[in-house]
Amino acid sequence: MLSQKLTDEINDQIMYEFYSAHLYLAAAAYCYDQDLDGFANFFTVQAEEERFHAMRFFNFVNDMDARIVVKGYETPPAAYADLVDLFAKTLEHEHFVTDRIYKLMDIATEEREHATISFLKWFVDEQVEEMATFKGLLTKLKRAAGDTSVIYDLDGELAARTFTPPTIV
Ligand SMILES: [Fe+2]
Ligand SMILES: [Fe+2]
Repeated sequence: MLSQKLTDEINDQIMYEFYSAHLYLAAAAYCYDQDLDGFANFFTVQAEEERFHAMRFFNFVNDMDARIVVKGYETPPAAYADLVDLFAKTLEHEHFVTDRIYKLMDIATEEREHATISFLKWFVDEQVEEMATFKGLLTKLKRAAGDTSVIYDLDGELAARTFTPPTIV
């Protein structure tokens, strides 16, 4: 049985994950506008991942026989100074999401809600990977220092990214 506090926080998390998808779609739109289709593909795939996260929380609330609440969210930023700015801000957003997952884990631990603790572990690991991906690209972009040949090589690499729904064990 989920407490009202945990139910409310997980319902908020559904909204944050959908907001993340929206933020990354807006980032994809920014990249298309800059003729960086590979980067746009990277963010479009990232948005799919975020919708997958949102639906995992959505289904979990239902599986726990609690009431799902679907909430609205704000319009994401549409413009960035450059790619370094874009990745600095999206990395910052991933840090925010990690803090949110930790907050959920803290409440579940406090309440000794073992099913939720077990469910959240996947997200703790997922955030490590997410932050490493964004941090890695930010580092590469900073090193490139605006060198267009490096940026276009990276754009080519990112064009190959596809979404495969993760196998949950
Ligand atoms: Fe996520
Ligand atoms: Fe994420």
